[in-house]
Amino acid sequence: MDRLIVTGGARLEGRVAAAGSKNAVLPCMAAALLTDEPVVLHRVPDLRDVRTMAQILERLGVKCTRDGGTLVLQTVDRSQSEAPYDLVSTMRASICVLGPLIARRGEARVSMPGGCVFGVRPVDQHVKGLNVLGAQIAVEGGYLVSQVRRPLKGADMFLGTRFGSSVLATANVVMGAVLARGLTCLENAAMEPEVAEVCRLLNSMGASISGVGGHKLLVEGTSALHGAEHVMSGDRIEAATFLVGGAMTKGDVTVDGIDPTQLTVVIETLLEMGVAVDRGQDWLRVRADAPLRPVDVTTMPYPGFPTDLQAQFMAAMCVADGISVVTERIFPDRFMHVAELLRLGADVRKEGPQAIVKGVPRLSGATVMASDLRASAALLLAGLVADGETEIRRVYHIDRGYERIDDRLRALQGQVRREAQPPVEATPLDW
Ligand code: EPU
Repeated sequence: MDRLIVTGGARLEGRVAAAGSKNAVLPCMAAALLTDEPVVLHRVPDLRDVRTMAQILERLGVKCTRDGGTLVLQTVDRSQSEAPYDLVSTMRASICVLGPLIARRGEARVSMPGGCVFGVRPVDQHVKGLNVLGAQIAVEGGYLVSQVRRPLKGADMFLGTRFGSSVLATANVVMGAVLARGLTCLENAAMEPEVAEVCRLLNSMGASISGVGGHKLLVEGTSALHGAEHVMSGDRIEAATFLVGGAMTKGDVTVDGIDPTQLTVVIETLLEMGVAVDRGQDWLRVRADAPLRPVDVTTMPYPGFPTDLQAQFMAAMCVADGISVVTERIFPDRFMHVAELLRLGADVRKEGPQAIVKGVPRLSGATVMASDLRASAALLLAGLVADGETEIRRVYHIDRGYERIDDRLRALQGQVRREAQPPVEATPLDW
């Protein structure tokens, strides 16, 4: 297992190209189940989650061939429709094979993903939406099981969670509806750009989805989809992580290959913190030369402040000049990073779904444990400004969603190195 060692104090400076979007590419890969023709995706990030999704798809008879940033996915065998627990439990996003399997094969056996470090994370809306289309999903032995006569049948529905809309449930239901007979009207669809991107891919495969990017999607079902070629968009969460790093280190960082209109609330938050932000059509630049100002953020579905940036901004608040309040409305338990930030000398008090962050003049490097993807990113950012060395263990979490993060931070002058974690030497006990 690897660890990252960060030496704090360096100012991040330079340009970095955003990788393709992780949260868009995963459902786009699942869309390959909907056709026997090749689906070719370009600008695919090299991530653990992408590899896990490819492994699941291979089990489901989809041949996945990678050449650099290009991934070719082609269904070659439709006899195996089980996504097993061992793989699904390592990556919740694998649930988005459910809709395509039912729509194209009339059968699916997909393990329920189970909880994760930031809570229970139910899948009731995935099940509800597909059932409205006639999927008849039952839970058997921890698996979501469906065996139906194709095609599914288009219907009107409202998909809602306690916290708003659901990103992957929307993707799943849309992928079910594209091969259904008739019209599906999906109200309260997630508006995240990653959902819009899957819809665009599906349309280029011959689907008919209108209202893309909005809260109401109209899907006119069709009997078959064909192959398509698609270039993934830049990852807005990864991009913003680099920008926060630039702001925290009083640096000057430009991220290329992104759509700044997807980051409006993030830009506003950075401006509120006293960071200078410049933008072009496909780039953003941050510059900071003074301590950051405190800011309050509340996570919300897009276009609100993304939960996937809550931890990274909290790292910045830890060194801001005053008190900030974070309110987590999407995953009220997504605060695993707090305990680790405390180890670096941060002053954070958690109260229910809120954290009150009192900026401190300095953090001090320590050994910390990565617990999930974005929490790990937050620790890495905190390490960049902490005195001395910060050792981040269990970095496989960060490799799930950030491509070669250590190399790319080094290219921005960050002092980050990757090492193999030496085994812990146990002292023999003479009991
Ligand atoms: N929810 C339900 N029922 C459902 C589905 C969701 O109650 O059937 C609840 C969730 O528990 C949560 C809220 O609805 O409280 C929103 O969850 P959502 O379904 O939108 O999350 P997701 O689709 O499982 C995706 C991203 C997450 C990101 C969330 C929210 C992917 C692969 N994952 O998850 O990304 O945090 O949307 O924006 O797209 C990450 O990249 O680090 C990450 C966790």
